[in-house]
Amino acid sequence: MTSTTALLAPEPQSGPFAAVMDITPRPATVFVAGHGSWLTDSEGRSYLDFIQGWAVNCLGHSPRPILQALARQAERLINCSPAFYNDQMIRLADLLAQHSGLHQVFLANSGAEANEGAIKLARRWGTKYRDGAYEIITMDHGFHGRTLATMSASGKPQWEQLYEPKVTGFVKVQLNKLAAVAAAITPQTVAVMLEPIQGEAGVFEATIPYMRALRALTRDKGVLFILDEIQTGIGRTGRMFGFEHAGTTPDIMTLAKGLGGGVPLAALVAHRVVSCCEYGDQGGTFCGNPLMAAVGCAVIEEVAKPGFLARVTQAGDYLADRLHAVSRRHGCGEIRGRGLLLALDLRRDIASRVADLARARGLLVNAPRPDSLRFMPALTITDQEIDTMISILDGTLADALKA
Ligand SMILES: Cc1ncc(COP(=O)(O)O)c(C=O)c1O
Repeated sequence: MTSTTALLAPEPQSGPFAAVMDITPRPATVFVAGHGSWLTDSEGRSYLDFIQGWAVNCLGHSPRPILQALARQAERLINCSPAFYNDQMIRLADLLAQHSGLHQVFLANSGAEANEGAIKLARRWGTKYRDGAYEIITMDHGFHGRTLATMSASGKPQWEQLYEPKVTGFVKVQLNKLAAVAAAITPQTVAVMLEPIQGEAGVFEATIPYMRALRALTRDKGVLFILDEIQTGIGRTGRMFGFEHAGTTPDIMTLAKGLGGGVPLAALVAHRVVSCCEYGDQGGTFCGNPLMAAVGCAVIEEVAKPGFLARVTQAGDYLADRLHAVSRRHGCGEIRGRGLLLALDLRRDIASRVADLARARGLLVNAPRPDSLRFMPALTITDQEIDTMISILDGTLADALKA
């Protein structure tokens, strides 16, 4: 009889990556340095980075404001326990409240953790004020993270059968169908939760009329409106937060990615009437540590500088124009998205191959769907770097379509 241990033990791995858990197919490239929009690998090759840590490095690789904030704060105070206030936690919470129009902030370490917090806060609010209502309406193809609850909240088809049984209490509807949300609201419903733009799904926008109608519907029905701005927040769409395009404010918003500009930092931001945690409900060893919070402050101060967001819009328009031209030249389809979160519909299932070929030519782009490429460069990208990317992409597409 085979022992359980033998059954569980895979073939021993060898080679330079053997000790790294094999959770995703990775190319053999090893990155060792980054500056602005460029990465360098261990062989000294340069890559123009239109992934930027998955829309994380909003100021590019190793930007001066983050380096300075890290160095300054590391000299002063790195961590003093979340059981105490620290000056950077207070400063970042104030900045986020000021810019969002919301009131209270819980700092966390990842997008999934912030969303987990949003789900818990909504359920806590439901227990206190809505007769124990706990269900959250989320969107098909939505993405909210990789903890068990956030996977359950996500609408990623590949996850439907994974890690069963899931956390219950999530009802999925189609994006941009207001009637579907209205029909799904019951006395058990506590919130509707969505991304202003579904990034991981392939860059699909919640339309502005839909966002406005959803805000009105949730207010009318007395349920919470939760926006996952983990990918769209902190300038990515040309405004500080994605919701500003619709002129609506959520009851709860989550942030990560751009907020830390590359370091692990996230935030759960809530309206004061929803911020109803009891002591002990929420916390975490690293939550609100001054080192990461100092970086968050530096990022927000940079993005809030006069002209910064206008330049993001301008760069996004320029990138979209150039992608439209690429699309016409190669018989591709629409350009989706807003600001510097864009996708090109290739009209054929060649996106992974194009991303691989592009990498061999020194360009990093992401393929979130078999038929689409996603572009999420640093918000500081120059027109010249966009031109360089377009020229590499043109050559890559020509090759991929020839084959
Ligand atoms: C919209 C959205 N929500 C949540 C997450 C999860 O964030 P994290 O990977 O930091 O946990 C992501 C990550 O891609 C995301 O795009």
